[in-house]
Amino acid sequence: MLGKTKILLVDDEKRFRETWHRLLTGRGYGVITAGNGQIALDILSKSRVDVIILDLKMPVMSGEEALEVINIEYPTIPVIIITGHGTVDSAVECMKKGAYDFIVKPFEVDQLLLAIQRAEGKKKLEQKAKQTQDELIRTLFNFNTEKKRLKTIINCLADGVMVTNRNLEVILHNPVLMRLLEISEKLENPFPVTKIITDDSLIETLKKILSEGFPENELISQEIRAGKSVLRAISAPSLGPSRNVFWSVAGTVTIFEDITAFKQLDQMKTDFVNMVAHELRSPLVAIKQQNNVLLEGLCGPLGEKQLEFVSRGSNKIDGLLGLINDLLDVAKIEAGKYVQRRVPTDIGKIIEETVALMEPRATEKGIALTFSLKDLKPVQADPKNIEEIFNNLISNAINYSPEGGNVTVTAQGLGEYMEIKVEDTGVGISPEELPKIFDKFYRVKHPKTRQVTGTGLGLAIVKGIVDAHQGTIGVESVVDKGTTFRILLPVIME
Ligand SMILES: Nc1ncnc2c1ncn2[C@@H]1O[C@H](COP(=O)(O)OP(=O)(O)O)[C@@H](O)[C@H]1O
Ligand SMILES: [Mg+2]
Repeated sequence: MLGKTKILLVDDEKRFRETWHRLLTGRGYGVITAGNGQIALDILSKSRVDVIILDLKMPVMSGEEALEVINIEYPTIPVIIITGHGTVDSAVECMKKGAYDFIVKPFEVDQLLLAIQRAEGKKKLEQKAKQTQDELIRTLFNFNTEKKRLKTIINCLADGVMVTNRNLEVILHNPVLMRLLEISEKLENPFPVTKIITDDSLIETLKKILSEGFPENELISQEIRAGKSVLRAISAPSLGPSRNVFWSVAGTVTIFEDITAFKQLDQMKTDFVNMVAHELRSPLVAIKQQNNVLLEGLCGPLGEKQLEFVSRGSNKIDGLLGLINDLLDVAKIEAGKYVQRRVPTDIGKIIEETVALMEPRATEKGIALTFSLKDLKPVQADPKNIEEIFNNLISNAINYSPEGGNVTVTAQGLGEYMEIKVEDTGVGISPEELPKIFDKFYRVKHPKTRQVTGTGLGLAIVKGIVDAHQGTIGVESVVDKGTTFRILLPVIME
């Protein structure tokens, strides 16, 4: 109720009206009076009234007659009937017809006040109930609008959408999903996810998301094949209210993106780079050989300047050939063709040989290059690949260490694995850079190592080789203190 309660006092006795008008106004009520039922109805049609006090015996229109109209037209306004001793029966009758209360004349002030307060309370309660109902209807309406909007959005998306519950049943999906998965059958939600997803690794992912302790805001991205297409599936937990905790994992959401065209382009790029690398290699090797002939003086002696220029050219060609070889290695690793044979391989021997090869470069920089071997066990590997691992890790250790440092290579058998470590006392790698160093072409920009030439492909090749041999590689580093690369390769079990 807004502001003060407004009471309509209907009685044919003028003195009664005046007395109660005064009393009620004095208690903070707004009061309008009427001398009979007809006037009361006029007032009701024009102004807001919260409680009606209604006498029964009145000229022109009696209280009973007025009550009938009020019940129909103003059903929410509570009516308190005033009656004399002789007409209590009629008052009871009025109660049956919908009056809220009655009091018998003569009455005390408090009696009437109490009746008014109760009537006010009833009206407030009714209003509250109405409000709650209105709100509920509005909420339901908003909920339905939101649901329709979500459905429209999902149906308009260019990506496939699949939502499952905890039982791995699809409860929401869009037409794009079915097109991407090449499914023509019309399926009604809910249905088991395995009806449309045949990729085991994706099912595993969904199970993992639903398992205990999976982080709420983590995404899992993976590539899956569907017919001729390649799709990227990004899955995450969907949250919902649950019995004992407010939010918990209620199911999964997966978005499917068609990356077939992107994959084809990527393949074309790789093919192109390979082709160019191949085509460049032979002429470069030829130029290098011819330069060597010149440098060795086989075409007659060269002057000092000529020697300098030709050997500078030769160095550049070495750099280019390094890049080309790395590119071709990466391409082979990506095509799964890098590991050409798998034979029992003695890692100790390869370390010995590689260290001997690197020795001159280490000495040149005043770096102590040492190695130690313990409990060696053969691994099933392509020896050329293993050599490549040490080539890269040791040359990095030398390249990215200042003069006078130490580089230590160790290999030791640890149960089912050979542990290989290459440690240096070099410039180190900051924690932000660490996750990126195995990416193709990634090189850390560091003022102290700016002069080191490289392609950023070495560690990508190392990681590719380790992966292809079912091993693991990790790195620990402290800036300005040094770096340790640690590889585990499975040994041949008897
Ligand atoms: N032992 C190391 N100490 C410090 N930084 C290193 C070390 N090894 C590799 N890095 C950093 O990782 C980057 C990538 O290495 P790599 O893939 O071998 O490429 P490249 O040596 O051709 O630059 C290097 O550019 C260097 O910044
Ligand atoms: Mg390198």
